[in-house]
Amino acid sequence: MKKIVSWSKRRGFVFPSSEIYGGFSAVYDYGPYGVELANNIKKNWWKRMVQENENIVGLDTSIFMHPKVWEASGHVDGFSDPLAECKQCHTRIRADHLLEDAGIFADEKMTEEEINQLLDENKDKIKCPKCGNKGNFSKVKKFNLLVKSNLGNFTGEWEKDSVYLRGETCQGIYINFKNVLDSTRQKIPFGIAQIGKAFRNEITARQFIFRKREFEQMEMQYFIHSEMAKKNYKKWREKRWQYYLDLGIQEKNLKWHQHENLVFYAQEAWDIEYNFPFGFKELEGIHYRTDYDLKQHSQFSGKDLSYYDPQKNEKYIPHVIETSVGVDRTFLAVITDAFKEEDLGDGKKRLVVKFSKSLAPIKIAIFPLLKNKPELVQKARAIYNKLKSKFMCEFDDNGNIGKRYRRQDEIGTPYCVTVDFDTLKNDTVTLRDRDTMQQERISIDQLDDFFQKEFSD
Ligand code: GAP
Repeated sequence: MKKIVSWSKRRGFVFPSSEIYGGFSAVYDYGPYGVELANNIKKNWWKRMVQENENIVGLDTSIFMHPKVWEASGHVDGFSDPLAECKQCHTRIRADHLLEDAGIFADEKMTEEEINQLLDENKDKIKCPKCGNKGNFSKVKKFNLLVKSNLGNFTGEWEKDSVYLRGETCQGIYINFKNVLDSTRQKIPFGIAQIGKAFRNEITARQFIFRKREFEQMEMQYFIHSEMAKKNYKKWREKRWQYYLDLGIQEKNLKWHQHENLVFYAQEAWDIEYNFPFGFKELEGIHYRTDYDLKQHSQFSGKDLSYYDPQKNEKYIPHVIETSVGVDRTFLAVITDAFKEEDLGDGKKRLVVKFSKSLAPIKIAIFPLLKNKPELVQKARAIYNKLKSKFMCEFDDNGNIGKRYRRQDEIGTPYCVTVDFDTLKNDTVTLRDRDTMQQERISIDQLDDFFQKEFSD
């Protein structure tokens, strides 16, 4: 993990937020290559979920919603984590994480008293991760994860004007269910997909971008008749598993986890877990949410959110199957899977990040062999200018060729093109493959076709 974190910063993928001010816990910024990777992840998800499914449409709803949305959704009352405080160093920490680190499982549905009892019974095993103090913790309190802000200046009182930053993107989908139904030709079953920011007041900042306070979700809500729900729930679980294989993730690093203890909205829940550097943890949640959400919003808004099927002459509240994954967790899984330290023999090593071609931030790097030979630089620039409108390219004339290859290997660029003295004679260039390190000569005229084929999704 340490290697990945330091590489992420050194190579411009992930920066800790507000670093010049000493940092800001559990908030991170994506650097120049990180934003390319995150954009490619989102593009890929959108293509698979929206573009390739004629019964799924997209949406982009606001982060701010009417405060009642969060009452109806159950988040105001039920969206909390158990918080404990170390009496010695005053670090605040999730009690379930304290127990988990000691090998004791705490159930999501446990009451404060039950967790306190578990902490008490296991006093000698439970340790503060910061100061090492054993078993000396405050009583556990439920800590709501919704992040508050305030909007407008209507009453002048902070509490009365306060609103929530959305804790999950799907609520924006539910409250627009009728709008989508009325403005498109979709019929049940159909899905609505959205990518957007979500905010949670996570108690413990740890595990890098795995648990952020501001993060991005890619969620799809599939609206369906209850009779078809179970079958389609299975189908979506299979589809989402395949999605990760198609993304180039190694299957041995994925596993299923079925929730025994369900969050308040779910009737059945499965996670796809990824083998992160700190072990198998949730990457994506696939939930069967029944008609809970649309029913709640119907009740709280007073608006009828049922669906009328004219063929069957049946009116009902649709059930929902949800697929929900974080951009940031996908990012961390993709990096972990692609990050390789290869032994080249003779004590030589190379760090290479083997992103799949569709996710690589930079697709092609173009070099003149020497930077002080204008003929080479001009030719290399001409190739760069031609390719850059179709592919994300980088021009580099800094340092020797070996160093430039190493730099591109470290940011995961699949191909490097070098203009050398032979290019001036016969208009061919050296094409170097990141994974095999093989080099071949290819005519400049063929580059465009070659890359079109290589980078067609
Ligand atoms: N709408 C359902 C929902 O939000 P969730 O299991 O709480 O369910 C879904 O979150 C996904 O969002 C997770 O599987 C994870 O990929 C991502 N996620 C949740 N909390 C996160 C956090 N604090 N930081 C980064 N990603 C997070």
